[in-house]
Parts: sequence; structure tokens; C-alpha cells
Amino acid sequence: MSETNEKLEEAMRNPQNVGELENADAIGTVGSPDCGDMLRMWVKFREEDGKKVIDKATFQSFGCQTAIAVASVATEMLKGKTVDEALGMDSTQLSESLGPLPPMKIHCGQLVESALKDALNSEAPVEERTMAPPESALAPSLVDAIPSAASQRKVKIVPLENENQS
Ligand code: FES
Repeated sequence: MSETNEKLEEAMRNPQNVGELENADAIGTVGSPDCGDMLRMWVKFREEDGKKVIDKATFQSFGCQTAIAVASVATEMLKGKTVDEALGMDSTQLSESLGPLPPMKIHCGQLVESALKDALNSEAPVEERTMAPPESALAPSLVDAIPSAASQRKVKIVPLENENQS
């Protein structure tokens, strides 16, 4: 087994930061229209040296082990990053510690990138965070949130590239 495969396997076996993050400041959900996989990411911020940085990021997904592996290493890597730094990272950078993904799995990393960007771009202003969280944030799991989010058009269907390679 190559070193890359070993890292991927390890991240799949022992994913970090899985599950809903209580009192998250930002939530992003995306789905792939092709493989049907979905991924939700929660982000919480803290102040550090007068800057707002990511304190913790967690995710929930099902179906695709590669997306889980990428989300695991990405959420670890995001700790301490500013919003701008995190927004500047693409799927290749987010999954860098796993090594290059197989061509047919590149869109799995893009799913993680899209969920992160969706969360960071939808972050509510501080004054709005004291209000009731969006309905989707109250759903106990991603599966529970999908019908409601879809009917309200809150789920983004993200066109993915490289489909001809899968
Ligand atoms: Fe579609 Fe991994 S996200 S197969």
C-alpha cells in the first residue's frame, strides 16, 4: 500500500471532528447531484490577537469514505485559520496531508471545500446569532435536515468537475 493510501485509510478508520458542533457560528451544507453524497460543516470562531480565527470545525457526512477522510484532516487543519485564510484554501490544500486523491475521488475533496465555503459565506452577523438558529441547525442529523432544507432551497447542489473521470 502506498503512503498516500495509508494516510487515507487511517483518516477513514479514525475520522476526527465528526458530529454536530453546539453553538456553531456558521453552518454549511452541500450535496453532490451525481453521487448523492452530502456533507455538512459546523464552524465556531474565537478571538486571537484581535483577529477572528476558527476555533473548531466539525462535519457530518454519510456514504463516502473519502469525503469523510478529507473532512477529517481539513477540520484539523482549519484550527487557528482566519476566515480569509480558510476561504483561500481549495480542496487540494484541504486534503494535502492525505496526498493526491485518486482522480475519481477528487470531487469528494471538492464537496468538503464547498461545505466549508458555504459555511463561511453564510455566517450570520454577531447580532443575529442570538436569535433562534435556522431550522436546519436544529435537526439532530444531516439526514433529518435534508427534506426541510431542500424544500426551502437551502441545500446547494454543487456542480462538480472531473465527472468524466469517475
Ligand atoms: Fe461522491 Fe465521494 S463525495 S463519491
